[in-house]
Amino acid sequence: MSGFEAFVYHNGELFVENVSLKKIAEKFGTPCYIYSQSALTNAYQQFDAAFEGRDHLICYAVKANSNLAILNLLARLGSGFDIVSGGELQRVIRAGGDAQKTIFSGVGKSVNEMRMALNLNILCFNVESEAELSILNQVAKSMNKVAPVSLRVNPDVDAKTHPYISTGLKENKFGIAMDEAMEIYQSAHLYPHVRFTGIDCHIGSQLSLIEPFVEASEKMLQLFDRLKKQKFNIEHIDLGGGLGIRYNNEKPPSIKEYVSKLCSITRNIKQRLVIEPGRALVGNSGILLTRIEYLKQTPARNFAIVDAAMNDLIRPSLYDAYHEILPVEKNTIEAKNYEIVGPICETGDFLGHDRKLSVMNGDLLAIMSAGAYGMSMSSNYNTRPRAMEILVVGNQPHVIRQRESIEQIIAGEQIIAY
Ligand code: LLP
Repeated sequence: MSGFEAFVYHNGELFVENVSLKKIAEKFGTPCYIYSQSALTNAYQQFDAAFEGRDHLICYAVKANSNLAILNLLARLGSGFDIVSGGELQRVIRAGGDAQKTIFSGVGKSVNEMRMALNLNILCFNVESEAELSILNQVAKSMNKVAPVSLRVNPDVDAKTHPYISTGLKENKFGIAMDEAMEIYQSAHLYPHVRFTGIDCHIGSQLSLIEPFVEASEKMLQLFDRLKKQKFNIEHIDLGGGLGIRYNNEKPPSIKEYVSKLCSITRNIKQRLVIEPGRALVGNSGILLTRIEYLKQTPARNFAIVDAAMNDLIRPSLYDAYHEILPVEKNTIEAKNYEIVGPICETGDFLGHDRKLSVMNGDLLAIMSAGAYGMSMSSNYNTRPRAMEILVVGNQPHVIRQRESIEQIIAGEQIIAY
């Protein structure tokens, strides 16, 4: 079982595993994110099994969904973590994750973040520029440590995905060009407090074709060979994340197909393979549950105004992303085409366009495939408290994040006397 299969209709009513979404809404209110423990576990195990005994480390990309309970679940399964901030690192540690299985990505690590990560002895820093390498060397020196480093190279591959989430083209801000990376590895003596332990790349997100992964992996292999000839002791090859999921009618490679391909391209080397999947683990393990507040007809359109909005799930507004929207209870009312919109004061506040639904005021809708980059990108825009999060384990829904209160939102603010 994976993804959508955790969310199924029984007698016209949508369930998560064996739990009624209607009951969850009655008990906990809406909007709320609901995740399936078994779907997430299954996705992780599919990745793990596909390596077939090959030395590997799956470093879950925390940014996709950073709830402590989700991280804890993955840590229990043996997952490592890919972090991009000190905050994410603290989450991993709080959730019981292993620093020795944690890699630190991102173009702009601060000195404080580097210190925190060095103190915790993380597995590796994925360094994205010579300037960053030089600072990391100084920070490590000041702490009398040696920082393990992979250079994140930019393989100049077109990932054929949305331009905002494509990262492996030479025009992007990410990574270091191949030749330049080679020169930096060769200048290792300039950085005595850095030890080059790996090579890394990540070409983009929501990739639905295997070819860009193949192309990038082949280029990484060439780099590995060049380094090997020069007697570098590279311990791991990190091929990043990016495997897409089905939101609508995309047909991304399966987890097995993707991992097998990476293994087969690198079959002649014994180094550990690292990958950094986010979306493919959690995306289809979660939904956003929302209730229709009002149906509104204008001369031009039908609107279903729901209680979730772009602050809860920004992907449709930001990337024009498609999320399937399903009624929690099927009925026989005449179907109409609706704009599914939130209460926020922006025309860009929509969750779906032109969706054919049979619905009434008060009905529940499930916004599908919302487990990745949903809650983690949410905000308090319009002073809207962030949604509750629920993890369904077996037949039991567990609250893994309380609904935020207005008090919590304004807690740090002050009126000043002047
Ligand atoms: N590794 C690095 C260095 C990354 O930058 C990312 C994602 C990942 C791994 C995980 O990629 P995934 O396996 O999830 O595709 N907010 C966007 C996606 C941004 C992805 C950023 N980097 C969205 O909602 O589609």
